[in-house]
Amino acid sequence: MWRKIVVKKTLTAASALLVGVTALAGCGDSDASGGDGKIVMGFAQVGAESGWRTANTESIKQSAEDAGFELKFSDAQGKQENQIKAIRSFIQQKVDVIAFSPVVETGWDAVLQEAKRAGIPVILTDRAVDSEDTSLYETFLGSDFVLEGEKAGEWLVENAAESDVDGDGDINVVQLEGTTGAAPAIDRAEGFASAIEADPSIEVTASQTGDFTRDGGKQVMESFLNSEDGIDVVFAHNDDMGLGAIEAIEAAGLEPGVDVKIITVDAVRDGMAALAEGKINFIVECNPLLGDQLMDLAEQVLDGEEVPERVVTEETTFTQEQAAEVLPDRKY
Ligand code: AHR
Repeated sequence: MWRKIVVKKTLTAASALLVGVTALAGCGDSDASGGDGKIVMGFAQVGAESGWRTANTESIKQSAEDAGFELKFSDAQGKQENQIKAIRSFIQQKVDVIAFSPVVETGWDAVLQEAKRAGIPVILTDRAVDSEDTSLYETFLGSDFVLEGEKAGEWLVENAAESDVDGDGDINVVQLEGTTGAAPAIDRAEGFASAIEADPSIEVTASQTGDFTRDGGKQVMESFLNSEDGIDVVFAHNDDMGLGAIEAIEAAGLEPGVDVKIITVDAVRDGMAALAEGKINFIVECNPLLGDQLMDLAEQVLDGEEVPERVVTEETTFTQEQAAEVLPDRKY
């Protein structure tokens, strides 16, 4: 491992020299690679907006420790500018590899060019960037968010009769979107919309961001309950917003899961508990335990091995009965 890292760092320095990198000028001499031979990874996390994110952060930290990496972890508190600053700081510190989960899809090319010029490989985890230049990153590890949205929509199409709770022949869906501009918000909305086209009685009548937070989901649901007539179904882009919607529905004197059907994405413990209790009707899984795969990919990249451009996480779905069965052993 040590020898390979030395070789890698030598190549990195050489390639940076070759392109006449200016990004590092004036940044000091602090080289993050310790003499202890550990791989140094800079990880720029989105924040701590949801149960999913907490589980993801724990997975990254634990897997880095297990793999013997030195992890430089930064929490962007939901702000793209903070992630960009963190990535620049990782470049200045000359980490071996940078990994990050982009808050939003666009606006990354400049900072990723800087990492490329410095010869530091970048791995995307969880969320994609919208860039035409795929040479700016080595690989993208994460879920297929479009498929997740499709699975949610397909369940609704299959359960349309029971989901028309007011029995008026139309299924009115309100959508709690994730963070505006984030890949999972864009893709889940797209997948859901394409799946419900199969049944013209299903319509998304209102859609607004709850920013992937419980509080955001609660506030948006309160406003939907005041402004929208005959809400049959909530499609929340994550469990946390669905859990916030449950609070708003109960506060309005309605029974979640019965008077208003609820579909969410993630399958974190709190969401699964609400599903098993009958307050949520269906959850599409989004697996946050990406740490081990990320460390493996980083080692392969640093060893000069070919890695796939895209590594898709395997995921399933849960009904209320399935949630009750698996809940006792749920890891997150
Ligand atoms: O990018 C994954 C999404 O981000 C999760 O579904 C959501 O809970 C999180 O905040």
